[in-house]
Amino acid sequence: MFKFPDGFLWGASTASHQVEGNNKNNWSEWENSPKRLKQLEQSEEIQKYGIDNFISGQGANHFELYDQDFALAKSLGHTATRISIEWSRIEPEEGQLDHEAIKHYQDVVKSMRAYGLEPVVTIYHWPVPIWFDSDGGWLNRKAVDRFANYAEIVVKSLPEVKYWLTINEPEIFSSSSYLAGNWPPQKKSLSAYLRVFHRLIVAHKESYRRIKTINPETMVGIAKNNVFFEAGTFLDKPITALADWWWNKYFLNKIRNHQDFIGLNHYFHHRFFFGKKMNANKTVSDMGWELYPEAIYFVLKGLRQYDKPIIITENGLADKEDKHRAWFITESLKQVHRAISENVDVRGYLHWSLMDNFEWAEGYWPCFGLIEIDYQNLDRIPRPSAYIYKKICVDNAIFE
Ligand code: BGC
Repeated sequence: MFKFPDGFLWGASTASHQVEGNNKNNWSEWENSPKRLKQLEQSEEIQKYGIDNFISGQGANHFELYDQDFALAKSLGHTATRISIEWSRIEPEEGQLDHEAIKHYQDVVKSMRAYGLEPVVTIYHWPVPIWFDSDGGWLNRKAVDRFANYAEIVVKSLPEVKYWLTINEPEIFSSSSYLAGNWPPQKKSLSAYLRVFHRLIVAHKESYRRIKTINPETMVGIAKNNVFFEAGTFLDKPITALADWWWNKYFLNKIRNHQDFIGLNHYFHHRFFFGKKMNANKTVSDMGWELYPEAIYFVLKGLRQYDKPIIITENGLADKEDKHRAWFITESLKQVHRAISENVDVRGYLHWSLMDNFEWAEGYWPCFGLIEIDYQNLDRIPRPSAYIYKKICVDNAIFE
C-alpha cells in the first residue's frame, strides 16, 4: 500500500491557449501567418493531419464549457485543477483592461471553488498579447514591467487564489522560441535566448515581490520543467552534471529567495552514453517520448536541496488509445511516494492534462487528456485511465 500525506492535492492541469478556444494572441497570429503556412505546406505532417490540426480555433471551447469541465473533474475524484490566465484577454491593448475577461476568470475560480477544486493558477503560459509581441516581446526591456503590471492585475482580481505560478517552463519557452526557432517569434539566436531567459528570471522576481505585497499569504512559484539526466558511463558524469546545473538548477538558483513552492513539470529522461543521448526507449508515447516512471523520483530528489514544498504541476503522455496512461500514472505515483518517504515534501500531483488540447506546434493530434474531446460536437469522454486515477485520488493511496 502506498499512502499519500493527508491533504495531498489530486487533479490535472490545463493552459488557456491549449483549451479555451478562440484566443487572439501572438500564437493564433503565428498559426495563420504566411511563414508558418509555408513551412507546413512543405512538411509531411500536413499530409497526415490536415491544416485544421495546426490552427487552435475553437478547440475544446473550455472558455465557455469550464463549469462542465470542473464538474467532470470533481466527479473524477479531483481536489485541485491547474488553469492559466490568458494575458491577451485581460489586457488586449497596453494598459487597457477588459473587465468582462476579468469577470470571466473570477467566475472560473468561483466555479472551481464550488466543486471543491483548489485552483493552481498560472499567470503566464507562453502566448502574449499582440501589442506586446509587436513591440519586441520579451526582447524589449519594458517586458519585465509590462509583465509585472499584468501579474498585479490578475492577482488583485482573484483574491481567492492561494497557489500562483508566475511563469510556465521558462527554459522550454525561451529555448524553443528564441534558440531552436520552432515557436513564435521563431528566433534562432543564442544571445536572444540568453537575454530572454534572464529577463524571465527578473520578471519572475519582480512579480513575486508585487504579489507578496498584495497578499503575503499566497504561495508563489514557477512551473519548472526538470529532466532526469543520467550518466551512462563514468566519463559522462561531467556532461551530466553540467546539463543538470544549466537546465534543472540555474533558474531555480537565481530565484531561490523568491519562491514559496516549486511547481514541477516532468516528462523527460536523458541518458548520456559517451556524450550522446541513448535511452532504452522500451515504451514510448504517441510522440515517441520515452515512458520511464522512475525518472520522477530522481528529479524530485534533485529538488530537495531547495527545501521548499513541491507540487507536481505537470506529468503525462500523449496516448490517444489510452494504452499506457493508467500504468504510467500508477508507476509514476509509486515513485513520487518513494520520494516522499525519503523526506521530499511533495504536496500534490496534477496530471497533464485534464483534457485533450492544442499541443503547440504539433497541433491537435497528440492526445494528453484524461478526458477525450470529440472536436465535432465538443463531447467530453473520460478515458478508462481517468477512472483508475480517480480511485487513487479518492483513496489518497495506491492499494496493491
Ligand atoms: C507544457 C504544456 C505541454 C506539455 C506537453 C509542457 O512542456 O507546459 O503546455 O502541452 O508540456 O508537451
